[in-house]
Amino acid sequence: MAGRINDEDVKAVRDAVPIDSVVSEYLQLRNAGGGNLKGLCPFHDEKSPSFQVSPSKGLYHCFGCQEGGDTITFVMKVDHLAFSEAVERLAARAGITLRYEEGGYNPTHQRGERIRLVEAHQIAAQWYAEQLGTSPEADTGRAFLAERGFDQAAAMHFGVGYSPQGWDHLTRYLRGKGFSDKELLLSGLSQEGRRGPIDRFRGRLMWPIRDIGGDVVGFGARKLYEADNGPKYLNTPETAIYKKSQVLYGIDLAKKEIAKASRAVVVEGYTDVMACHLAGVTTAIATCGTAFGGEHIKILRRLLMDNGSARVIFTFDGDAAGQKAALRAFEDDQKFAAETYIAIAPDGMDPCELRLAKGDEAVADLAEPRTPLFEFALRQIVGRYDLETPASRAGALDEAAPVVARIKNSGAQHEVAVQLAGMLGILDTQFVVKRVAQLARWARERGRGPAPSGPRPARPYEAAPRPTVTGPALNLRNPVYATERELLKLALQQPELVSPAFDAYGVDEFTATPYAAVREAILEAGGTEYGAQDAQEYLIRVREAAPDDAVRAMVTELAVEAIMRRTVDDAYAGTVLVTVRRRAVERRVRDIQSSLTRLGSHGDPAHLSAVQNELWVLQQYDQALRERGVAAL
Ligand code: GTP
Ligand code: MN
Repeated sequence: MAGRINDEDVKAVRDAVPIDSVVSEYLQLRNAGGGNLKGLCPFHDEKSPSFQVSPSKGLYHCFGCQEGGDTITFVMKVDHLAFSEAVERLAARAGITLRYEEGGYNPTHQRGERIRLVEAHQIAAQWYAEQLGTSPEADTGRAFLAERGFDQAAAMHFGVGYSPQGWDHLTRYLRGKGFSDKELLLSGLSQEGRRGPIDRFRGRLMWPIRDIGGDVVGFGARKLYEADNGPKYLNTPETAIYKKSQVLYGIDLAKKEIAKASRAVVVEGYTDVMACHLAGVTTAIATCGTAFGGEHIKILRRLLMDNGSARVIFTFDGDAAGQKAALRAFEDDQKFAAETYIAIAPDGMDPCELRLAKGDEAVADLAEPRTPLFEFALRQIVGRYDLETPASRAGALDEAAPVVARIKNSGAQHEVAVQLAGMLGILDTQFVVKRVAQLARWARERGRGPAPSGPRPARPYEAAPRPTVTGPALNLRNPVYATERELLKLALQQPELVSPAFDAYGVDEFTATPYAAVREAILEAGGTEYGAQDAQEYLIRVREAAPDDAVRAMVTELAVEAIMRRTVDDAYAGTVLVTVRRRAVERRVRDIQSSLTRLGSHGDPAHLSAVQNELWVLQQYDQALRERGVAAL
């Protein structure tokens, strides 16, 4: 049975280590007033801080997830330690020697698994570092470092080491230190060989990987010999203390500066982290043999807090990697993506190579936020088109618009859509903005789960003055009016047939003022999407949403007037939708053509070509509608 830690010692540990100093190793704390501090909770996902720490009381509490306790419980929870392990960790930090009750203290049998594995790593790291410093065989490792611009001081700062060739040097050394074969295998430092455990890392340059609290939890190991037919880099496998989706190389060294500067620089390799730190970019970190993902974001976010001025800069060796990462960002955390910038060094150099070729300043310069991630991603797409021919411009818009539509924040989406228009040379930014907004709406509708309990807030397709009904009765022999009327009847009577496409139709797609007013009322009532779920309540709401009695009467009229087809189905609804949309496109084309005529050949050439560009794009869209019908909407 494990020895119980003396109660007085536990109390001494609790008193000796200030809770705020422990917590701030994991997240950034700011003043919360009343002597309290606050930050983003490490126990649940949140975007504004509800995690509070009271240094005077030695307690923490999260108002978001109700998690709370003292310094010891914090360490237990955050690092998944047992009570005694947490106390031991804090005691070591405070320099307190613990007394155990019920018999003597035997470290090999009484301490928790995590502590044991970390201890093995600590010893291994020290031993590897000694090998690098003293072993003749490690010349290869020292030469590798020197070639990349790292002297002995640099190697020591990062604790770089060398694992000797042979089979079981480290394994035997650790056995001698009291570690069992089982522990060595669990730690990932050894692996099963034909006759018992052998070293996992042999003849490699070793980078100790530390967690945010500074404990060594794994290694990154670079191949040095041709005869080694393993991968160029070999990492610790997944263990109880090493999860590659959560480790960030350099986080222990960088965390303070990341929190202080609200900035993080993400690079690709161990040597890049070293180069950056030596060049003064002390916020640099890297993932270890895996792509940057959601878990990494959470760690950084806690350090950066949500203060609006946070900046994360990703550097990539080449465009291909950067592009892949950039496109992923649209799926990942977009709040994070909005604060993210991409930096690609000239000639595909990584920070390590850049430092060698151009010095520290060039590295520091690379790590400045320049190209926002969203912009970078679009440039990648647009860059694949020459934009010289109409087909290529339309193609670029077709490919880029859905990407922009994936931006969830509508303000950011609008901003990026305007940027896209600029990149494509389309003068009418509203055209691009609308196209994007429309795609976004459809994506939302498709992705939406169960029925909403009520109508969602009206989101007018564009900010237009509310149309009201005035003037003479409509001439229904005008085919334009007739089709618009038919579409509204479908929207009121059979909303499921035109949903969700209808809800993305703009006010300006209904030329008759009363029809535009009805369309507004439909949208305000929750759109056809809501109608498809609760037909009765929907009509009541559309009537309520009508701005005046005249529009209300029109709603009722359209809700009961017979539809012009005997068989009212998807195909018919699709035809009506497409006809109305094509008329709107044709009107726009005519507007542009007449403005082109007005401009003549005397206009500003840039302006002229932008207008022509938009014309081409519209004509492509019209052709797509003609050929593919409702699929092209
Ligand atoms: P050198 O080529 O050694 O100068 O280093 P480098 O850091 O420039 O290497 P590279 O750009 O090829 O790799 C960058 C990072 O990707 C490394 O630090 C590793 O984390 C990771 N990496 C590269 N190759 C491998 C591999 O074969 N396996 C794993 N797991 N990770 C790798
Ligand atoms: Mn590299």
